[in-house]
Amino acid sequence: MQTEQQKNLWWQEEIIYQIYPRSFQDSNGDGVGDLRGIIQRLDYLQELGIKAIWISPIFESPMADFGYDISNYTGIHPLFGTMEDFDELLAEVHKRGMKLLLDLVPNHTSDQHPWFLESRSSRNNPKRDWYIWKDPKPDGSEPNNWLSMFGGTGWEWDEKTQQFYYHGFLKEQPDLNWRNPEVQEAMMNVMRFWLDKGIDGFRIDVIFHMIKDDQFRNNPQNPDYQPHMNKYDQLLPIYSTDQPEVHDIVAMMRQVADDYQERVLIGEIYLPLHKLVTYYGVNQSGVHLPFNFQLLVSPWDSQQIAIVIDQYEGSLPADGWPNWVLSNHDQSRISSRVGKAQARIAAMLLLTLRGTPTIYYGDEIGMRDVPIPAEEVQDPQGLNMPDLNLTRDPARTPMQWDDSTNAGFSPAKPWLRLPPDFKRINVKSQLQNPFSILNLYKRLIKLRQQELALKAGNYTPIFSDKQIISYTRAAAGTSFLIVLNLSHRPAYFKPQHFTFSGVVEIATYPELENLPVKDYINLGGDEGVIIRIDN
Ligand code: GLC
Repeated sequence: MQTEQQKNLWWQEEIIYQIYPRSFQDSNGDGVGDLRGIIQRLDYLQELGIKAIWISPIFESPMADFGYDISNYTGIHPLFGTMEDFDELLAEVHKRGMKLLLDLVPNHTSDQHPWFLESRSSRNNPKRDWYIWKDPKPDGSEPNNWLSMFGGTGWEWDEKTQQFYYHGFLKEQPDLNWRNPEVQEAMMNVMRFWLDKGIDGFRIDVIFHMIKDDQFRNNPQNPDYQPHMNKYDQLLPIYSTDQPEVHDIVAMMRQVADDYQERVLIGEIYLPLHKLVTYYGVNQSGVHLPFNFQLLVSPWDSQQIAIVIDQYEGSLPADGWPNWVLSNHDQSRISSRVGKAQARIAAMLLLTLRGTPTIYYGDEIGMRDVPIPAEEVQDPQGLNMPDLNLTRDPARTPMQWDDSTNAGFSPAKPWLRLPPDFKRINVKSQLQNPFSILNLYKRLIKLRQQELALKAGNYTPIFSDKQIISYTRAAAGTSFLIVLNLSHRPAYFKPQHFTFSGVVEIATYPELENLPVKDYINLGGDEGVIIRIDN
């Protein structure tokens, strides 16, 4: 059982909301979302109960990977606005008592970044060693077998200087050489620039990629590779990611953050649990929250999810704060992965588990992945491997605000299409409907904010079977029992070694609310309840 924390920090108690800025709100009629658009929608987020926002990259970029290829870490891309707009956004966020997190992309820059332009200009350039340059093998081939996440080899030949450079993602995203102290210092200065402005922290992109094997050994074949998978998964990236020395870099970043008050670092890490938790660092020297993607990558099966939760709880270091994520801009949305009815269960799970939840914009209205016709695909991952249905565009479509032109997102044709059902599925219509998923989210968030037991209380698993997951959350004499039916069939919750009596506080289908219950509860398919246990 976990011990209750006495004093919690904002990033432990509050919910993080991820905004993909291209798709949240367009304010200047170019079909792409922007910073002033976000300002216009802050009241909506406040009303929803959101206290912290993370915005995907807004920096100067050629947009080969939609902003994850940065050409100036301290400049705002004109598509999103100006630095004045940013300052205003930050002030407006803080005025509402909210927090703002930015995306830090330290593993790679754009190939148009002045650092890389210098680095590739000649072998003698002082910035040559800022990136990863290698000679070809004697037969002229790539230095090793490392692959790019976005298809093909990870090595790009540079005709002029007759060497290869390494890119774990697009060839337009060369990887920095983090073994070089000048690179380290330059990126720490980027962090200081934004922290000095007053931002509340960073989500750090592919933090586990930052350092590579110093001998550049070949990655081994992945015995579990299947032809439908991303070609990158043909190899196990054991030499190109998650190297022991990465933790020194993470610690360096943590020290920078710790020079400021209550700033948070969140690491984007796709690794098995036992490796993930090492990113908390020894004695809190790592990131505050290594993103926990277990609910994103695990099959939606009650027993597997129950195991995932318990394994995660059991793997955390004593001082490690948990966190949970259902969707993000790189993965299929939760409503598409588990269906509309189960998306309500997922919301109840996300907002009642122990740890900081992250909500991906639009999930609160049950937005689904939108099919994007082949000729409209924009994501390089989709374009480079067209037969594998890997495009991330479907989960990045414009926010559906109302039933007006382009769902109130923009007066102009949006950069990605909207689904035909946006006239029904949008914020405005759902606010008016007490049974909508949006109103479920709102009520769950409110309860969570009011109740210490849900925000920070102990987590105790009670029972799980082929349909049900159940657990309690308890603090300071208040406890809740959460019972979730992850199946579509009726389920009968009557645990043998656990008796209880209480009242249903929130149900995914509100008809059950206020029902007194004792020792058992019958749930319809896709039904979940939060029961307030009698004292
Ligand atoms: C991260 C981002 C993803 C991006 C990649 C390369 O995984 O979330 O969107 O494409 O890094 O920067």
